[in-house]
Amino acid sequence: MQRSTSTAEALPLPDSLSTQSPAALLLDWYDRSHRVLPWRITPPMAKAGKRPDPYHIWLSEVMLQQTTVQAVKAYFAKFLTLWPTVGDLAAADTEEVMKAWAGLGYYARARNLKKCAEAVASQHGGCFPDTEEGLKALPGIGDYTAAAIAAIAFNRQSAVLDGNVERVISRLYRVETPVPAARPEMRRLVAAMTPADRPGDFAQAMMDLGSTICTPRRPVCALCPINADCRAFAAGDPERFPVKLAKKAKPVRYGTAYVATDAAGAVYLCKRGDKGLLGGMTEVPGTDWTTDPGQNQTPPFAGKTTPLWRDCGGIVHVFTHFELRLAVRHAEVERDAIVANGWWEPRETLAAQALPTVMKKAIEKALPGCFAKTS
Ligand code: ADE
Repeated sequence: MQRSTSTAEALPLPDSLSTQSPAALLLDWYDRSHRVLPWRITPPMAKAGKRPDPYHIWLSEVMLQQTTVQAVKAYFAKFLTLWPTVGDLAAADTEEVMKAWAGLGYYARARNLKKCAEAVASQHGGCFPDTEEGLKALPGIGDYTAAAIAAIAFNRQSAVLDGNVERVISRLYRVETPVPAARPEMRRLVAAMTPADRPGDFAQAMMDLGSTICTPRRPVCALCPINADCRAFAAGDPERFPVKLAKKAKPVRYGTAYVATDAAGAVYLCKRGDKGLLGGMTEVPGTDWTTDPGQNQTPPFAGKTTPLWRDCGGIVHVFTHFELRLAVRHAEVERDAIVANGWWEPRETLAAQALPTVMKKAIEKALPGCFAKTS
């Protein structure tokens, strides 16, 4: 039987004449090209009205702040194995949570994660609130995280604006205001674009577009599902957006880390105070971190003997607000040579401690290979 193509309705419109909104085009693209991520349910399920577990979405969103998707995957899996529900996390030992978080950085997130789990368990019967306002009242949940959880886990029509979305929206509308001042304007633009149907998938589609096609350098505009609507593409200058003010050079701080080992190879560790940078995490003893490169290098602990500290070279670690240059020194000492508030950690259990990356770098500098996997 011959099919008639004589009526206009029977023919699909070419893309450039499509009557679909950018949001609809983006959702079609997401259905075909979404990234498969452990905390997501796939679009066919979302279309059928299935929602992901809010605990999974909250956990992934907190981990994804300032951390790449690739780095988060293993941590997400580890947390769900150790604490399958928010109630399990609420009941966990804080020290164990800090150990599991070690290496993800921004340790205030881990402390707030635990507090938030406790609040959800004790004040909300183990169920996350399903509105932005309710979510924002919880520890560690700000505007972005509340909007992302409300949209993705509860299908609320919330405007979700992260770094990837900022890039997409600033190019789509050629937003000339530099970030961060442009954020309220960008949030309004995203809100106007967010559909009532499938807002959670829309948010994730914007994130995926930003990370796979609308990339910071060399965006692949030819493959973009909404290039016909993109003002920066039309003007030929997508890489100019988002507009940023010139970056100030990061200040540098200096310090010395002391890696002491005993005759059996155990390492002397101590715990940082709960407040401030790396609060509550484990470290090797060290001097203060100051702007003076020639600071006094006296070890910050008393001891019966003064061991001969060997210079091991230095490490550099970049924090958000400064660059840290640490000189690393090592000595093998008698156990009672150090009198301070720490403990001797056997080499076999060193890797399981709540050591932030900067401390792992310092210890590795003094004891090369000490974190190498044994299995
Ligand atoms: N970055 C932040 N949140 C994300 C999410 N839900 N999916 C992918 N990338 C993200």
